[in-house]
Amino acid sequence: MSEKNADQIAFWNSSHGIAWARNTDIIDVMFSDITEAIASAAAINVGDHVLDLGCGSGGTMLAVANRVGAAGSVTAIDVSNSMIDRAEERCRAKNLKNVTCIRGDAASYPFSDASFNKLISRLGAMFFDDPAVAFTRLRQTLKPSGRVALGVWREPRENHWAMEPVAAAKKYLNMPPRPGPEEPGPFSFAKPDRVRNILAGAGWRDIELSPLNFVIPHGRSITEALIFVMRMGPLAGPLSEASGENRVKAIDAIKQVLKNNTGDDGIVRMAGACWIVTARAD
Ligand SMILES: C[S@@+](CC[C@H](N)C(=O)[O-])C[C@H]1O[C@@H](n2cnc3c(N)ncnc32)[C@H](O)[C@@H]1O
Repeated sequence: MSEKNADQIAFWNSSHGIAWARNTDIIDVMFSDITEAIASAAAINVGDHVLDLGCGSGGTMLAVANRVGAAGSVTAIDVSNSMIDRAEERCRAKNLKNVTCIRGDAASYPFSDASFNKLISRLGAMFFDDPAVAFTRLRQTLKPSGRVALGVWREPRENHWAMEPVAAAKKYLNMPPRPGPEEPGPFSFAKPDRVRNILAGAGWRDIELSPLNFVIPHGRSITEALIFVMRMGPLAGPLSEASGENRVKAIDAIKQVLKNNTGDDGIVRMAGACWIVTARAD
């Protein structure tokens, strides 16, 4: 594995990646709108050969495996050991013969040129040290006219699921510094001009960004949602390190946010905002 992307590879192989693997079923429900939007934007069809970039535990891979059928294939790649193990487990459980799971860095994995006709990613495209190099290489793995459809987060301020609990609890916690807007991280593809420049510079054509606004169910009760926030996302680490009165106050503040976002049915829902980025390989 190359030196490039080393920090992100370490991050996704730490407790964060393990938490993602353990919470797979919840995550797939939370992000089902993104999965559908990507599959539709990529026009996934019978016979397609799909590369799923940063596949995690395989939610999108499973969603498209049936659509491509026996004549097609899905190759799912991720740097995280725990998530790719979980993705493989899920393929075995469903006896899927048309899926291959690879543990590797999508920017440097030696795929043959023109192996795929579709490249998809649900929230896995924003973590390259050098996205221009990565998307040049990824374009080469696609056949001429191959299509890409990526789900990427818009600005943090539009993503209430990320910002509201943090805004309420951060004064009681030691929050790590946020990555800069162009550093690898969840919001590094939030700026449309940056995404267009990266993809155009890497040789992609017909680049379009369509907004996807959706609600993310966090749990069927405040308690369930709180457990999720404590396990995953930007507050999980800081909460695990907090103690005493500060921890109690932080949890109370988060509970209040969750309460404000609870519907009459008891479900906690927070707003999410993505770009669905589409482009062609030539
Ligand atoms: C936010 S998670 C999304 C996971 C999955 N797509 C989902 O929606 O559940 C980002 C994923 O990108 C993966 N990733 C980050 N950098 C990568 C790289 N250079 N090559 C392959 N996967 C990468 C991480 O390991 C992680 O699984």
